[in-house]
Amino acid sequence: MTHKPKVLVTRRWPAAVEARLADRFEVQVNKTDTPMTGAEFQEALSRFDAILPTVTDKLDAEALTVSNPQTRLLANYGVGFSHIDADAVRAHGITVSNTPDVLSDCTADLAMTLMLMVARRAGEGERELRAGNWTGWRPTHLVGSKVSGKTLGIVGFGRIGQAMAQRAHHGFGMTIVVQNRSAIAQDVLDRYGATQVASLDDLMPQCDVLSLHCPGGDSNRHLIDGRRLALMKPGAFVINTARGEVVDDHALAQALTSGHLGGAGLDVFDGEPNIGPVLLSCDKLVMLPHLGSATRETREAMGMRVFDNLVDFFEGRAPRDKVL
Ligand code: DGY
Repeated sequence: MTHKPKVLVTRRWPAAVEARLADRFEVQVNKTDTPMTGAEFQEALSRFDAILPTVTDKLDAEALTVSNPQTRLLANYGVGFSHIDADAVRAHGITVSNTPDVLSDCTADLAMTLMLMVARRAGEGERELRAGNWTGWRPTHLVGSKVSGKTLGIVGFGRIGQAMAQRAHHGFGMTIVVQNRSAIAQDVLDRYGATQVASLDDLMPQCDVLSLHCPGGDSNRHLIDGRRLALMKPGAFVINTARGEVVDDHALAQALTSGHLGGAGLDVFDGEPNIGPVLLSCDKLVMLPHLGSATRETREAMGMRVFDNLVDFFEGRAPRDKVL
């Protein structure tokens, strides 16, 4: 690199990563640490060689309506990139990279956390205790369901889906059934004692717990709708650590309040950080504020992965994690 490329970091990052970036690049950080607006992006696209967005940055067609952008690379801090309009970046010839692998373990850990909290009614118990309503141990109090030996349905068998299968199968003896848009190699399925079904409709009736690990975006909006929820066994659980729009909130709330579903755990929400009121009133729902990758180690590793992608790109190579 002969000159230092100008890069924009759209949110505050772990200090060690901000420092590493500053060694190699001319960095501007959005110190307000609030999501940038479309107009701010349009302005940034004309000034920075690379922008380092996150899931909170809506780089939709409108934000990307600029002529001759200076920006050549969007190096996303995160694995999901459905907040970036693929057609618009292609039209501008802008490259997009993400941060796979480094967050798979932590995201799967959080999906396990939600599954166990929901099955063991931990959210309800915590709320009862804090409200001062616990009257003491009794044999029929907040009795949940065992997950060991049950069937886990996984939608999307990429790195995070497989990390979930690893934990659930080898740690909890769960039977794994997966649905994925392409065929999974038999040796990969065998690692988790898993079987792949042909369609989501085939998966729904088989599982005691459904865990979502597929991409978000328009093509997967309301993949889990009322019709599909009705195919699930009575008392089944739904866990979403993927993207909020994959689940129809109203249909989920209805399935919970009617008693058809035994519970649900959500780490992601359509339109987050706003949470639909229909969800807030559901007792058998555990909700977390998008914490999937939120460990010190992982957030640093994600930043270092963005750094590596920037170095690749500005040294004339394809970024190692190029997705568009
Ligand atoms: C991811 O990496 O996709 C997380 O959800 C944060 O964007």
